[in-house]
Amino acid sequence: MTNRVQQLLGVEIPIVQAPMTFIANAPLAAAVSEAGGMGVIETLSPQGREDLARVRELTDKPVGANLMIQGWKNDPSIVETIAEAGITYVASSAGDPALFTDRLHDAGMTVFQVVGSMRAAQKAIDAGVDGLVVEGVEGGGFKGALGASTMVLLPLVASRTDLPIIAAGGICDATSMAAAFVLGAEGVQMGTRMLATEEATVHGNFKDAIVAAGDDGTVLISVPGNPTMRVLRNAITERLTEGQDVKLLGQITDLYFGGDMDISVANTGQVSSRIDTVLPVSQVIKEMWSGCTAALDTARNRLGAS
Ligand SMILES: Cc1cc2nc3c(=O)[nH]c(=O)nc-3n(C[C@H](O)[C@H](O)[C@H](O)COP(=O)(O)O)c2cc1C
Repeated sequence: MTNRVQQLLGVEIPIVQAPMTFIANAPLAAAVSEAGGMGVIETLSPQGREDLARVRELTDKPVGANLMIQGWKNDPSIVETIAEAGITYVASSAGDPALFTDRLHDAGMTVFQVVGSMRAAQKAIDAGVDGLVVEGVEGGGFKGALGASTMVLLPLVASRTDLPIIAAGGICDATSMAAAFVLGAEGVQMGTRMLATEEATVHGNFKDAIVAAGDDGTVLISVPGNPTMRVLRNAITERLTEGQDVKLLGQITDLYFGGDMDISVANTGQVSSRIDTVLPVSQVIKEMWSGCTAALDTARNRLGAS
């Protein structure tokens, strides 16, 4: 038996690697797809767009793409670029889904829109998407400043739509995956857990910082000129919380790949506090999938239900 996320994405295991600009590249996506999940390649950077082709040297399993709507709203050629790469699953995010959903459908693609609020979910439903990635405010990266947590947003959206839902924000293991399914999801998407894997090409200092982070290790910040983001605490976020003027000293890629953890901001979710080892992608995915039923059994036993 397979659920709708498995069917629509054409995957064995309904675990999706999150879109992450610069990071969601061919090696990471291929590792996830080879393990039976859905690897996703970002298309905002030139490297990401090259990786749509490069990934085919690494896997013949389904691979998806992220379309960051805000970045492409004036250039619909991205739909052709994605279609030419033979991609059939698109996670669209950060923008009005009405701009691209019909075009992506005409190109034969399945479209899931990433949403962080009930309002955004309704907009995506009205735009005719095939499913939703519902992401709570505990997740890493760009967030609504007033966003609800996965625990609240996921069952709220699930109660208002019959569309299949992939849950994101705060998921890293079988227990959190099982919880997401109880709350209404048919799949999960992970960013932070995927950063702390052997196949992620980010610098070891970034992986170590995720492993070291406690439950107060991330913070929601607004750097002038940028949307609100959840990032690891570092020298920059300390200055921001003290009300000082802040300017980023380098590019985010200098932090991601150069390992200078104070030069910019490091998009990371609260779930970093639950991650204490860098693991191979296949181990993360296989343990989550095989442990999900046991996690649900444990919950049933806690209920004391017969
Ligand atoms: C380093 C990093 C970069 C991210 N970049 C993007 C991005 O470019 N586009 C996007 O839609 N979401 C982005 N996100 C959000 C993720 O796609 C994902 O939904 C989120 O990480 C899920 O929460 P989790 O971190 O608790 O797993 C990013 C997240 C991280 C951790």
